[in-house]
Amino acid sequence: MTLTDEEKAMRDGRDGNAIACAMDLLIRYGEALGAENFVETRNVCGTVTATTPFMRDFALKQGAGASGLNAVFSEFNLDTTERVDVPKVKAFSSHLQLGFDPHHPLEMGVTEQMVQFYKKSEAMAAKMGVQMMNTCTPYQVGNVPTRGEHCAWMESSAVVYCNSVLGARTNTEGRESTSSAMLTCRIPNWGYHLDEPRLATLGIELDMPVASVEDWGLLGYWMGDWVQDRVAVISGAGLKAAVPNLPRLKHFGAAASSSGGVELFHLVGITPEANTLEQATGGRPLKEVRRYGPREREQTFERINAFGVDRDVDYVMLGCPHYTIEQIWEAAQLIEGRKVHENSALWIFTPRAIKALADRNGYTKIIEDAGGVIMTDSCSAMSRAVPPGTKVVALDSAKQAHYLPAILGVQAWFGTTVQCVDAACTGKWVSP
Ligand code: F3S
Repeated sequence: MTLTDEEKAMRDGRDGNAIACAMDLLIRYGEALGAENFVETRNVCGTVTATTPFMRDFALKQGAGASGLNAVFSEFNLDTTERVDVPKVKAFSSHLQLGFDPHHPLEMGVTEQMVQFYKKSEAMAAKMGVQMMNTCTPYQVGNVPTRGEHCAWMESSAVVYCNSVLGARTNTEGRESTSSAMLTCRIPNWGYHLDEPRLATLGIELDMPVASVEDWGLLGYWMGDWVQDRVAVISGAGLKAAVPNLPRLKHFGAAASSSGGVELFHLVGITPEANTLEQATGGRPLKEVRRYGPREREQTFERINAFGVDRDVDYVMLGCPHYTIEQIWEAAQLIEGRKVHENSALWIFTPRAIKALADRNGYTKIIEDAGGVIMTDSCSAMSRAVPPGTKVVALDSAKQAHYLPAILGVQAWFGTTVQCVDAACTGKWVSP
């Protein structure tokens, strides 16, 4: 890779061991990718705390205090056997979701020792200068990059939103590359940082209106399954039914990056790099165009619901990706004056900042009075936590319906938020 003088100085240790290790890691990474140089990034989303049980055990073996956390950061964030002191970040950096919600240890099945370790880990990250947003949706709580801004983000659902809806530029990074980018403001210049890979090569013609969150989840799941890691542009009369808002695009991208590896999509007339079909394709002919209509929707619905058999619902999980305040408001309206069934449970996941707003607006109280719980920082897929004895779950997220049966061996029903809240209150899943 061609390095600037500044990058050479960082590599050669001018700014200390941690930054030298970070530059070394990024150079090795860039060379493996075939990148010729770096881009400067001042917006990073990653994970620096000891999030998994494996890392927590590793840290505790190295010492419960700073030495354990330094060891985790050296080994798992900078990929070095050298033990570096955790430094301060140079880039504006946001923390993604974590392994559990420390405010609900009982529900999440974690010990007091784990909660204490979590708090130390979080304090270390905050001291580094990392914003403890603790969410898979940093774009809804203050990290909103502008069009064309080079970012280094982890988390597939956040990456696809960042690229497609915001028009910023990132590849799907990992723990090591994001931590190194936090310290150096550099990331290899390849993939979606470049113009050409951002052009659509596949087309989707909508033959039916796509309006609800459920509709967008189904379309995303169908699209990801087909396009995998390629870029598609969506057009057609169906797109004009209603301009999709944040929750719809959040669910759409998350579903597409679950059934496939979609990191970027274009919606003609809606997303920033697709004012026209020609802009989205760069004027090149599309390699293939497929139509999406009622038949494709139904087949996708059947596929996502293939793991639903029993109608008695033990657990309803909402908030994948983390719920917006609009979605919490809707859930509060749906459940106000009702009670969660004694054989069921309702957990809703959202960022901490949105939870604070829900508290002030009274939505948390409405949901808790009904017997539901609002949680932060994590989700059932990340934490592997569901209410004890759960065999059947109901979800309004195609992404969570994709992962939860595989991760926890549960049955899953996918449907609308209304269906899910009804299932929580009746203990039964009713198909439309
Ligand atoms: Fe977020 Fe968990 Fe879904 S981290 S995107 S709520 S799988």
